[in-house]
Amino acid sequence: GAPVKVNVSKIEPGQQMVAEWRGQPVFIMRRTEAILENLTKIEGQLADADSQHSVQPRYVDPKTRSIKPEILLLVGLCTHLGCAPSFRPEVAPADLGENWVGGYFCPCHGSRYDLAGRVYKSQPAPLNLPVPAHTYESADVIIIG
Ligand code: FES
Repeated sequence: GAPVKVNVSKIEPGQQMVAEWRGQPVFIMRRTEAILENLTKIEGQLADADSQHSVQPRYVDPKTRSIKPEILLLVGLCTHLGCAPSFRPEVAPADLGENWVGGYFCPCHGSRYDLAGRVYKSQPAPLNLPVPAHTYESADVIIIG
């Protein structure tokens, strides 16, 4: 598949857009300072906090899993059986419980991921959501692939 060019300037803080690359959804999220701080706080609850066993390019930070801290790209397919995880950035919603600090929730069998796509411990999903290869063409334009 050909590389895909995406302008991320219109993504509001705390929100995401979905691009398509090689027939797969790619989530592109703009993280806030509060979200980035939470990534550190919940590390002890994650199965692969440093993404040692998960798929991501070498040039992304192992914890934030991004080039620029605020912009996250993930292949939006659950690493269990490939369902599309839901984007659930809100804190402590009624259906996900008071410990939920925002993340991705897979509706098929309940796997939970944080806002770096890192899977929590003891989930059906074994690995973090993959980070696709990407580069910045300019401050707001990303080439995926
Ligand atoms: Fe996501 Fe099973 S496919 S939890």
